[in-house]
Amino acid sequence: MKIQIAPSILSADFGNLNADIKTVEDFVDLLHVDVMDGHFVPNLTFGAPVIRCIKTSLPLSCHLMIENPEKYLEDFVKAGAATITFHAEVVKDMSGLIKKIHTLGVRAGVSVNPETDVKVIESVLAEVDEVLVMSVHPGFGGQKFIESALEKIAWLRQVRPDLDIAVDGGIDNLTAPKVVQAGANILVSGSYIFNSSDRVAAIKTLNP
Ligand code: DX5
Ligand code: ZN
Repeated sequence: MKIQIAPSILSADFGNLNADIKTVEDFVDLLHVDVMDGHFVPNLTFGAPVIRCIKTSLPLSCHLMIENPEKYLEDFVKAGAATITFHAEVVKDMSGLIKKIHTLGVRAGVSVNPETDVKVIESVLAEVDEVLVMSVHPGFGGQKFIESALEKIAWLRQVRPDLDIAVDGGIDNLTAPKVVQAGANILVSGSYIFNSSDRVAAIKTLNP
């Protein structure tokens, strides 16, 4: 499978977001957009009004670290989301939510936290377009990669060989080969890319 690189704009300069996106746009496959509500995670970012202002030709993958994601689906679709990923920890009827996301014409993803057993999403694996394996505790950039993500990725790849498997948190030149080896094909990376003095060179080290 082709490896896709998804810079997480959480580590970009929010005061110069579009300019920062321009510095990586030609070298990556999509943008990872972290929405946090201060409830599901102990941090706040932004919502649909800010996403609407992002100017890019790249697909936007919206990672909703929020409670009650069903309330905001339309807003994110109208703001330009190509993929909407919700967290398994906050959704009872995952299948119903996936159907709603598909009805709105976008891709559906489900994410699992480091302490969540990946098997809780087994029943919806045939329906989702993507699984986002968290390899840090969600809420902040710049944390250390949690190795247990590797087993989850390997299990997912075995169960659904064609699935888009994204991994989010602590991805750099050292952890990227490990997650690719385990079976991930979408690498989300925030601080490693945006804090680098040569972002393009950093991106290239993720998929040499
Ligand atoms: C964390 C976010 C990540 C974050 C990753 O809650 O979901 O997308 O930006 O940041 P790094 O790559 O710095 O670990
Ligand atoms: Zn994320």
